Amino acid sequence: MKEIKEKNLNQKNEEEIQNNNKNIFIPGKNNYIIDSKTVLGKGSFGKIYLGTIKTTGEEVAIKLESARAEQPQLIYEKKIYDLLKGNIGFPKIYDFFSESKYNALIMERLGKSIESLFNEYHKKFSLLTCIMIIDQIVSRIEVLHSKNLLHRDIKPDNFLIGRGNKKNVIYAIDFGLSKKYRDSRTGLHIPYRDGKDLTGTARYASINTHLGVEQSRRDDIESIGYMMVYLMKGSLPWQGKVNSNPKKKYDTIKKIKIERKLTDLCEGLPKECIQFIQYARDMRFEDKPDYKFLKKLLHKMAKRNGLIMSSSKFDWIIPEDNKIENK
Ligand SMILES: Nc1ncnc2c1ncn2[C@@H]1O[C@H](COP(=O)(O)OP(=O)(O)O)[C@@H](O)[C@H]1O
Ligand SMILES: [Mg+2]
Repeated sequence: MKEIKEKNLNQKNEEEIQNNNKNIFIPGKNNYIIDSKTVLGKGSFGKIYLGTIKTTGEEVAIKLESARAEQPQLIYEKKIYDLLKGNIGFPKIYDFFSESKYNALIMERLGKSIESLFNEYHKKFSLLTCIMIIDQIVSRIEVLHSKNLLHRDIKPDNFLIGRGNKKNVIYAIDFGLSKKYRDSRTGLHIPYRDGKDLTGTARYASINTHLGVEQSRRDDIESIGYMMVYLMKGSLPWQGKVNSNPKKKYDTIKKIKIERKLTDLCEGLPKECIQFIQYARDMRFEDKPDYKFLKKLLHKMAKRNGLIMSSSKFDWIIPEDNKIENK
């Protein structure tokens, strides 16, 4: 039986897997069962399926990439996850393998993305929840930067909550666009460059990224700033600028980002939001972000609004859920 399934799988491509209603056995170092009916998420180059480790019954997430992908990135992503291993807020990686039809990354199954939770909550999170999400994201990006890497695609879809007693942990995922910004041995920073195409997601891209400047740590921070405003306000002023021509659409987004005063962008929000984004925009190309300062701004925001940061207070955590460890 197993053998037949293995054979079948080898003859299928990824699109066909989702049409197969039976569980499929994937040959690998360990044995995993992929639940082809349950898609946990769709990415830009593949899908993430629910799976189980055959021997233990533990649930996993399986990210698949077509082996014919022009620019395979899953193996690269796996290496980044390996570098981040052991740090809180990054998913565990169980395995990676390549087959004739696809590459598979077997990872810890996480909960919903901040984007899907936000939609479930009708685009309204409490101020405390917004502050605590951003606070954890600053910590994740600090770890990532300490490993000589940039994220370059910071957005609510790329941060997930954990499951069970880890619902109070915000996980960083999706290192498909990640880039090394300095040499791990010499510490030498990548050179300043311009004329680059936009990498990442226009809605959260920094102004310098729109202007074609090579990204560095400052751009991750600026994107966190826009994500913060998005969560606190429910939208960003450059959202929904539809144009069949992506170049024109990006130009409109860039124009609004440059022209809109930060006081207007952050109208009605705690004043620390302006300081956060202004700080990111004032950084020079090679500057190391002052993560402590950014976190202080967030703590001040909470304090001034009479809020006490405690991760059991995320909007999606029900008070009776006493399994949550408070960190
Ligand atoms: N480990 C995981 N557990 C649960 N869902 C996941 C996991 N990894 C990814 N997803 C879901 O799949 C989506 C796409 O995954 P992602 O790695 O961001 O792919 P892409 O690089 O194509 O954007 C995520 O936004 C999330 O909803
Ligand atoms: Mg993604």
